[in-house]
Amino acid sequence: MAKKVLIVYHSLGGNTRAAAEAVAAGVRKVNDAEAQLVEALKAGPGDLVSCDAAVFGTPDYFSYMAGGLKDFFDRCYYPTQDKVTDKPCALFVTHGGGGRAVDGLKGVVRSFKMRLAAPPLLVLNHPDDDARRKLMDLGEMLAKVATLGG
Ligand SMILES: Cc1cc2nc3c(=O)[nH]c(=O)nc-3n(C[C@H](O)[C@H](O)[C@H](O)COP(=O)(O)O)c2cc1C
Repeated sequence: MAKKVLIVYHSLGGNTRAAAEAVAAGVRKVNDAEAQLVEALKAGPGDLVSCDAAVFGTPDYFSYMAGGLKDFFDRCYYPTQDKVTDKPCALFVTHGGGGRAVDGLKGVVRSFKMRLAAPPLLVLNHPDDDARRKLMDLGEMLAKVATLGG
């Protein structure tokens, strides 16, 4: 069965959605991997428990992650406790010149005891071609980790 890479994101203006779609395109380059792209407000603990790897994407809103993604983590914390330990994950943040939201995201990964499989990716506003390539590489890398079980 194909390994599932969950991509949870929040996006009001579309920049982070475009970044999430690039990550999904990278996942789909890998045989035996499938991308599950879900808006954070529609995602839940079951999605996080059942995936083989997860990517979390957010805009930087007031130097923190978007409320929609925070809500997802809040709803998932107790129901997923001890069920996602060591699960490989990756992070990306779109921002307007700051990007400090990444700090809160890293803290959440630690709280959930997941394993950051790559350095977080910061993207300035709407992803340009270079950023899209990096986002695709991130998705491809995580899909390989998921399929190899590394
Ligand atoms: C309410 C709001 C607050 C923002 N605060 C910050 C900020 O603190 N630091 C920063 O670098 N960019 C900030 N930005 C810019 C966004 O992070 C950036 O444009 C992002 O790519 C928007 O993503 P989206 O199109 O997916 O909503 C803010 C934008 C909005 C709408």
